[in-house]
Amino acid sequence: MSSEPVQPSSARRDPPSSAVPRDLACVLALTLLAATLGSLFDVSERAYRWTRRLERFQLDELPLTLCVLSLGLAWFAWRRYRETRRELAHRRVLEQEAERLLADNRRLATEALQAEELERRHLARELHDELGQYLNAISLDAARIRDLSDAREPEIHRISLAVMQSASHVYRQIGGMIRRLRPIGLDEFGLPSALEHCVDGWRERLPEASFSLTIEGDYTGLSDTLTMTLYRLVQEGLTNVSKFARRSRVEVFMVRAPREAQSPTKNVGKTGPIDEIVVTMADDGPGVDLDAPRAGLGLIGMRERVEALGGEFHVASKPEGGFLFCARLPAHAGLADPVN
Ligand SMILES: Nc1ncnc2c1ncn2[C@@H]1O[C@H](COP(=O)(O)OP(=O)(O)OP(=O)(O)O)[C@@H](O)[C@H]1O
Ligand SMILES: [Mg+2]
Repeated sequence: MSSEPVQPSSARRDPPSSAVPRDLACVLALTLLAATLGSLFDVSERAYRWTRRLERFQLDELPLTLCVLSLGLAWFAWRRYRETRRELAHRRVLEQEAERLLADNRRLATEALQAEELERRHLARELHDELGQYLNAISLDAARIRDLSDAREPEIHRISLAVMQSASHVYRQIGGMIRRLRPIGLDEFGLPSALEHCVDGWRERLPEASFSLTIEGDYTGLSDTLTMTLYRLVQEGLTNVSKFARRSRVEVFMVRAPREAQSPTKNVGKTGPIDEIVVTMADDGPGVDLDAPRAGLGLIGMRERVEALGGEFHVASKPEGGFLFCARLPAHAGLADPVN
């Protein structure tokens, strides 16, 4: 399964109209040639002589009939030509409309992602600041009750210990939720450190797999949406490894580099280097038949995130042949939003 980027510019090319005058010149030249040869060899007279014996079939009326037929065909061709041009113009308008809708769709998808991340960040902060603080207070109070009831009230002592255990269990759960909502270190230390932390976590959880992470380039100045998208790509890829390729060797590679590229349709013909970020993750696990129907949403979400930011997303795999995905994203994607 792979997706190739659409090239809308090629669909908007003008029809090849340069052939029309040339074809017309050919027709006129042939007509002149026919007239010259006809007068040179007395074609009409000869035809009349040959067809005189077949007068009863009215063959001498043929030239006029053919003349009307050719005029009719010319009129027919002209009408079809006009019709095709009208249809092309209409199609071009529809293509422009489709492109506009696609751009709107991308913008909305980006905005939805931004809103989602903002909400997640807000939830993580609330969980940390509100619940975290109160749980801590509950834990401290329970510890105080434990100390005060020690030896004198064994029942209260036991209950206080249970309260402390419950509070620390909820605290750990909330910690996990906060980490899932907002990756650790992303805001404080940047994307490379957050990814290293994420991969380290999987190293501990999946000792039977081996992970290598290579990051090249500078990841400062990226939009928050792009940073989160890059992080979520790796996160979902590693989650999939834990589900489908637990014993494999996993290589994650992220690079930021300039790329000579054709600008989007708005500036057709204008080229220039754009900074792009490429994330590749490959494992040598059991792989999957990509033509077989699949139920999950992870890969679909990855593709949507990447395409919403104007990037490309490709997946390659076959049974017993490992699994690979590659995402290419422009480094300036989403730069109207806050920089991470
Ligand atoms: N690393 C991998 N190795 C082998 N197969 C994979 C790997 N990653 C994904 N797949 C296959 O691709 C399918 C789609 O993956 P996707 O992440 O979209 O869904 P999921 O992980 O099954 O569910 P979800 O992500 O929605 O919880 C998976 O069901 C699995 O068959
Ligand atoms: Mg998944």
